Amino acid sequence: MLREALKTDQDDLLALHQAVAAHPGGVIRTLAEVTPAYIEGVLRNSVDNGLILVQEEQGRVVASIHAYTPSIQAFRHLLSDLTIVVHPDWQGKGLGRRLFTQFLSQVEEGFPHILRIELFVRITNTPAIRFYESLGFRQEGAQKDKILNAQGQLETPVAMAWYNPNFVQ
Ligand SMILES: CC(C)(COP(=O)(O)OP(=O)(O)OC[C@H]1O[C@@H](n2cnc3c(N)ncnc32)[C@H](O)[C@@H]1OP(=O)(O)O)[C@@H](O)C(=O)NCCC(=O)NCCS
Repeated sequence: MLREALKTDQDDLLALHQAVAAHPGGVIRTLAEVTPAYIEGVLRNSVDNGLILVQEEQGRVVASIHAYTPSIQAFRHLLSDLTIVVHPDWQGKGLGRRLFTQFLSQVEEGFPHILRIELFVRITNTPAIRFYESLGFRQEGAQKDKILNAQGQLETPVAMAWYNPNFVQ
């Protein structure tokens, strides 16, 4: 079942984000940084001021996508820092594409005040970059060495953005 998340999903979302963060090279946060407070903030901001969808399989939340509007007036037309996570046991089965397609279609239909959706992805994560491009995201530039990862290596993220064709100012 694909549905909007509820604040009662907090524990499931924590477990999901921790399972994904346990594998380096995916999300930017380390496992230790995926805390209850981080997930509580994600859920509150996304429910109140953005969009968060989850995919349930066999009664468990196995995938999630969220983004929210920054609390700065000049950025009220943005959904920023989009994050998508699919549980390692469920990756590569089409859930990510289904979730992302639904997310973009809900923004097109119900978020006319949003012009841009923004995300960052490591330049080395070629499958993810291709995936986002196939959904309509465009690369906007790299930020060389912005990441110093847990192993002490410098990494470069690429900014990507998607434009809402139904934006109304
Ligand atoms: C990236 C991710 C969200 C894709 O979701 P998914 O359900 O595994 O992907 P799907 O099966 O829907 O396939 C969609 C595309 O994602 C790509 N993909 C699949 N597995 C992937 C993986 N482990 N890492 C990156 N991209 C992957 C494939 O190229 C696929 O493209 P295709 O549809 O043209 O074949 C998911 O694998 C994940 O959570 N990975 C770990 C965290 C991460 O890398 N997040 C993105 C950081 S910016």
